[in-house]
Amino acid sequence: MSLFFIGIGLGNCKDISINGLEAIKSCDKVFLEGYTSIFGSSTEELFKLYEKEVIILGREDVEQKSEQILDPAKEKNVAFLVIGDVFGATTHIDLWLRAKEKNIECKYIPNASIINAIGITGLELYKFGKTTSMVFFEENWMPTTAYETIEMNLKNGLHTLILLDIKVAEPNKEDIKKGKRNVQPPRFMTINEGLNQLLDIEEKLGKNIINKNTKVIGCARIGSNNIVKYGKISDLINFDFGSPLHCIIIPGKLHFMEEEMLNTYK
Ligand SMILES: C[S@@+](CC[C@H](N)C(=O)[O-])C[C@H]1O[C@@H](n2cnc3c(N)ncnc32)[C@H](O)[C@@H]1O
Repeated sequence: MSLFFIGIGLGNCKDISINGLEAIKSCDKVFLEGYTSIFGSSTEELFKLYEKEVIILGREDVEQKSEQILDPAKEKNVAFLVIGDVFGATTHIDLWLRAKEKNIECKYIPNASIINAIGITGLELYKFGKTTSMVFFEENWMPTTAYETIEMNLKNGLHTLILLDIKVAEPNKEDIKKGKRNVQPPRFMTINEGLNQLLDIEEKLGKNIINKNTKVIGCARIGSNNIVKYGKISDLINFDFGSPLHCIIIPGKLHFMEEEMLNTYK
């Protein structure tokens, strides 16, 4: 009996690999991690293709109540599905290790991740430095990690991928009693919000790393209808990239081929 860790790709239900689909069909229980990304197919569409009910898991389900995934995997095949790739920008190593501790056989079926799909920009993947995340600022809370990572990568001539915050509300016990799963609509940070926050950090720290003339790349819905725009922050900050998901890239030192490709996205 196995616990299958399956990446289902970035776009819609058709992006799963044949190996992934065959594994799902062999499973008694199918879970989908539903808090680090969003997908272009509904659970009904997944059900139609997989011929299995798909149980959506929140962060708490995976991080604190993992027995609901692990216990059935002791006796039956269970699938744990992740949008994109299981190990791309979301680490589910913790769940893998907990399964191993319980002597559950773990199998990995990879898929495309935002980490490699940004190759569509023309930037060479091996010239990316540390990836960072931009979280929604709160009153009296302005984390500067993304800015500091950009600073470090630029010093080394490397590109920076900035993943943008997703806020999916965890339902509380009272809501569950009332049969409600998600009481608040999820929030997805847009490229515009991310760029504004970067300028806010610049204003606060004043290190002159970023300004309105800094060249950036905005990427939306990569793997489905791919919107890529290259230009100065001032050009992109009000551009409507449409529905989520979005991410931002700050290019480092560019090879002329990278620049040629980026110019096609101006
Ligand atoms: C935590 S990562 C999830 C990574 C996923 N497991 C994978 O392998 O791609 C989620 C963030 O990556 C970015 N992202 C994921 N998919 C994207 C897409 N198709 N287009 C643009 N950005 C995307 C967004 O910034 C989003 O908030």
